[in-house]
Amino acid sequence: MLQKYLISPSFTQKIHKYTDCIIVGSGISGLSTAIRLAENSNIKIKVFTKSSLSESTTWYAQGGIAAAIKKPDSWESHYKDTITAGQGLCDPKAVEILTKTAPEMIENLIKIGTSFDISEGEISLATEGGHSFPRILHSGGDATGEELEKKLLSHSKSLGRIKFFPDHFVLDVLVYKNSCVGIIVMDIKTSSIEIYPSSNIVIATGGIGQIYDLSTNPSISTGDGIAMAYRAGASIMDIEFIQFHPTVFKAKDSRLFLITEALRGEGAYLRDPAGNRFMVGKHPMAELAPRDIVVKEIIRVMDEFGTDFVYLDATHIPESYLKVRFPNIISKLKENDLDLNKDLIKVSPAEHYLNGGIKTDYNGRTDIKGLYSCGESAATGVHGANRLGSNSLMEGLVYGWKIYNDILKNLSKKGPENEIKAIEGTDKILDKFKTKKIKIKKPYGITPEIRNLIHELKIVMTKKAGILRDEKRLKEAEEFINSYLNCNYLYNKKDLETLEFVNMLTVASLIIKAASLREESRGTHQRNDFPQKDDKNWRKHIILKKNNVYFENV
Ligand code: FUM
Repeated sequence: MLQKYLISPSFTQKIHKYTDCIIVGSGISGLSTAIRLAENSNIKIKVFTKSSLSESTTWYAQGGIAAAIKKPDSWESHYKDTITAGQGLCDPKAVEILTKTAPEMIENLIKIGTSFDISEGEISLATEGGHSFPRILHSGGDATGEELEKKLLSHSKSLGRIKFFPDHFVLDVLVYKNSCVGIIVMDIKTSSIEIYPSSNIVIATGGIGQIYDLSTNPSISTGDGIAMAYRAGASIMDIEFIQFHPTVFKAKDSRLFLITEALRGEGAYLRDPAGNRFMVGKHPMAELAPRDIVVKEIIRVMDEFGTDFVYLDATHIPESYLKVRFPNIISKLKENDLDLNKDLIKVSPAEHYLNGGIKTDYNGRTDIKGLYSCGESAATGVHGANRLGSNSLMEGLVYGWKIYNDILKNLSKKGPENEIKAIEGTDKILDKFKTKKIKIKKPYGITPEIRNLIHELKIVMTKKAGILRDEKRLKEAEEFINSYLNCNYLYNKKDLETLEFVNMLTVASLIIKAASLREESRGTHQRNDFPQKDDKNWRKHIILKKNNVYFENV
């Protein structure tokens, strides 16, 4: 069966020279692979992103990065907390790799100049939900992601071996006989469709937050990497597990702003609209219970009081301390006429993180030869049914790093140009280019309609496939998605929003499929019609592949 592409390869205007390794995405995980490759080889590396280089989910991470760096904490304790949060679906070996490697990753970050906050001469460690020890390193108080992204970017540029391509939207991975051979890219500034051949492609495109109405993710998080991997034939695992962050603030301009869990780690309370601390008695860790449990309670309280918020209360924490630890949150609240030290802050849950994604092994390999994934777009098995807070930046670093070794082992000497030319129409169109100049008409997008449809998709996903799910609502969501997903008029459009919309529909359809199949409630997947966890039947992963569904026991 022919692969379906966002834009058919027959629209290709140029085929570039072979690149040893292509990385799609410039957040922490993609840069982790790029840096290791550049430091340990002299191969050619290209990094593509559809936005500016620093615009990534990494940049917006507030809380920090988890590592057991100080006794009495240990990797074993970090391991145990991660496994507990994951509710029976973590891959123990993947978690062991993460938690054992984490301290070394911190040393590497420090070597490249990352500055973590210091208190009394030592790295300051914070607590977040589900962690048994303070083990969250942070920078600039609540600007950890920004510091990491800046340092990783400047280090990768300083190595002089990596070529960056901002404003380049990677549309699809080209696969020939189950090996990846290149990518199709649209240069956003010129609308030119180009092929970059490579036998080593790393998808590190982050999350899917934009398919929901409320999300902490930036606007670029449209699930592109997952959608293109699925179209190419890769397996997608655990995609029904979407983590909602409990405490997100809606600003005056309606934009969402995350209020880090670290604030609760420093003692802030959650209160219902009557002023009661509703998490006390619900879980031994109260406000610091794992996120899925806190979110469930918030939904219950909002239902009971008929509100769309609960309160976050930091008024009892000394102002001088808040100022040092949470400068960004304080200034954001000030813009909204609120004082963290005096006012109760209205918060509610919003989509935050995809636990699953493109299925990989411990070296980031997918089931397509030469295709890798890391970071939020990947399902390494670390997060299971619910990610432990501040594990994501570390997972991106560790598994981004694991990929480089495998790539170096498998470097091929010959580029796949011939294979690329054998792919649907590409050879023919390039022959035409050789003989005469063909002007490809720009297939104009249908932006106003697409904007409305994207809005509708977000509402449908939030209401019918969001925090609480059931068969009837999932079916309704599926009908909506199916009515658009296979519409030919959405394909072959050189319009960024239309192309993103197809990716969003693709990812949404996968979430709905897996969420409908999983007839139980576990971690971040909650079914009203199947409220119990069902270990007997469901302690297994759902894996979706083109025209195929299979299950894998933990
Ligand atoms: O609350 C936070 O700062 C979020 C951390 C995380 O999602 O890892």
